[in-house]
Amino acid sequence: MEVLASSALFFVALHLVSAAVQAGGLLGTVPIEEYGLSFQYYQQSCPQFEAVVGRKVKEWIKDYTLAPALMRLHFLDCVVRGSERSAEASKTLRGFEIIDDIKTELEKSCLRTASCVDSLATAARDATVSAGGPYWMVPYGCKDGRVSVAGEADKVPMGHENITSLLQLFQSQGLNVLDLVVLSGAHTIGRRACRPVQSRLYNYKSTGKPDPTRPDPTFDNAYYKNLQRKTGLLSTDQYLYSDSRTGPLMAALATQPNVFNYQFGVSMAKLGNVQVLTGDEGEVRTDCNAGNRY
Ligand code: HEM
Repeated sequence: MEVLASSALFFVALHLVSAAVQAGGLLGTVPIEEYGLSFQYYQQSCPQFEAVVGRKVKEWIKDYTLAPALMRLHFLDCVVRGSERSAEASKTLRGFEIIDDIKTELEKSCLRTASCVDSLATAARDATVSAGGPYWMVPYGCKDGRVSVAGEADKVPMGHENITSLLQLFQSQGLNVLDLVVLSGAHTIGRRACRPVQSRLYNYKSTGKPDPTRPDPTFDNAYYKNLQRKTGLLSTDQYLYSDSRTGPLMAALATQPNVFNYQFGVSMAKLGNVQVLTGDEGEVRTDCNAGNRY
């Protein structure tokens, strides 16, 4: 009976995900005008914006471990504004130096025009594409916060939360269960040295040796397949697989690489529209690490 119920759930989930994709990603469509954003925002004021970010990302990610670092930084910048360097959780974050470098370059040609938020969102998109993931359009015009919110970094999910609290975190930002499941697929790739992950990668079953089943770090739906084999890297990943609210979607994505690829772009675009500040609500920081003093 239980098996029948879970297979029914699986097929419903599969159908829902495929239908959403066929319908043009309706689950993730974002009315960007409502947020005061535009794809043409820098067309006049900083026409070289995308080219500068693209060139810098390409230079930096010759170290391929930096592509996932940028993706994670973007996620946390959007959801918990937790990318402040001083915070405890920030010790596991990398990639700030790339954003500083991009910003320095942008300031040379477009003084006080391109925000740090837009620069990071674009860099994360370019990094995703370079890792083999999807392309999505980043709507521009997001402003940076006037103050740093170091306290928010306590909300950074560290891999031991329960699914209810992850769902609450996502829902509080207008993101749904599909976004949680799909974006968590970013855990397919990631640096080998991160602490919670490291013990699984480098000390598999306390043997002191790497996990022999670990796949190469390429962006694909391997995350979902690995979880079926119970080789998830974080506890939360394994919970996502076993929880009845997320499990059927996780199982569906294990068999649907194209759906995953497509929906990842949709959910990342949606993520970029979380906690958006426009116009006078924010500023364009000259230094991405601190609010302007003028
Ligand atoms: C919501 C539940 C999530 C939890 C609990 C979680 C937790 C973590 C943890 C603990 C790490 C390792 C950090 C370290 O010690 O270095 C990590 C890495 C990573 N996370 Fe997540 N994360 C979540 C969601 C996401 C989402 C939505 C994305 C989407 C972009 C993402 C992208 C990444 C990437 C790419 C890495 C590898 C970073 C690197 O290699 O430097 N995560 N995550």
